Amino acid sequence: MSETLKIAVVGGDGTGPEVVAEGVKVIKAVAKIEKFDVAFDNYDEICGNRYLKDGTIITDAEVGKLREYRSILLGAIGHPDVPPGILERGILLRLRFEYDQYINLRPVKLFPGVESPLRDKKPEDIDFVVVRENTEDMYAGIGGWLKKGTPDEVATQTAVYTRKGCERCIRWAFEYTQRRNNPKGKMLTLVAKTNVLTYGHDLWWRTFQECAQDYPDVKTDYNHVDACCMWFVKNPEYYDVIVTTNMFGDIITDLAGMIQGGMGVAAGGNINPDAGGTSMYEPMGGSAPKYTGKNVINPIATINAASMLLDQSGYTKAADRIMKSIMTVTGTKMKSQAAGKMGYSTTEIGDLVCENL
Ligand code: IPM
Ligand code: MG
Repeated sequence: MSETLKIAVVGGDGTGPEVVAEGVKVIKAVAKIEKFDVAFDNYDEICGNRYLKDGTIITDAEVGKLREYRSILLGAIGHPDVPPGILERGILLRLRFEYDQYINLRPVKLFPGVESPLRDKKPEDIDFVVVRENTEDMYAGIGGWLKKGTPDEVATQTAVYTRKGCERCIRWAFEYTQRRNNPKGKMLTLVAKTNVLTYGHDLWWRTFQECAQDYPDVKTDYNHVDACCMWFVKNPEYYDVIVTTNMFGDIITDLAGMIQGGMGVAAGGNINPDAGGTSMYEPMGGSAPKYTGKNVINPIATINAASMLLDQSGYTKAADRIMKSIMTVTGTKMKSQAAGKMGYSTTEIGDLVCENL
């Protein structure tokens, strides 16, 4: 790849800018080794502090500028003094919808040295990927109130599923399963609730069955979402790749994030895989306001997100290099993944990952 990889950096709120700085540092270091050019543009003004000052959430001009990038590295959105939902819906969800980032990719991997709350589970037992649909379902914002504020109030929040929406996600998940090429066997599990959501999830089920015909090398399976939560705790080694709806994907990936050792390590990608699409990569941890500015927050999740960004952008060798380095650092250096207990500062962890690339 000869052209320059351009990345927009949105640090966001709380510890977001601190962790994102480490992600940028690691990408710069790996670009040197793998000999490609990378350039970063900062969009630090997009954050909760600006909203508190002048009421700006994100401007149309900013949405337009960010669209010019193929990749955005995002720190965290969410400020303790801003009522919940304003920044999340106004920035994070808006960008997911504006850029039609229809894949939410969440690898669930227990890195060496990282403690899982699941007793006896080892890194080889917790290594699967959740592909969450990212533009439909209850997130579509369809609904309303009737007789709001009265004792007769009615509220609806409609789950929207389209053939196009589920098919493009399911196909991407099949292709991802093929690329991942798990030596234990390629398997894609659909997670839904077909026994209750007999319209919408029937559409998912039928689409999944039909698409499966085109990927005969991938074994398919189905779990109800509640059973899936049970298996995550009991037999996580069973999974290879999971494909699921937006709302269920949101819920099960928090559970998955915990079994992989917590929010200090879990990363997510909001991906528009189409040519010219804009994708956005983020740590799953949130803005952790109480640790802001203390240089104690764990940047591994962001560095993990940086690796995903490179992988999805075609820089697979650089991405692998970062993954291996992360595993060296978690496996042989860090005392814990918890903020303030790592045995190193935020910036030192970034340095360690660079040194071990
Ligand atoms: C996530 C988050 C978001 C979601 C929130 C912050 C809107 O929980 O990325 O999983 O629900 O998708
Ligand atoms: Mg979530």
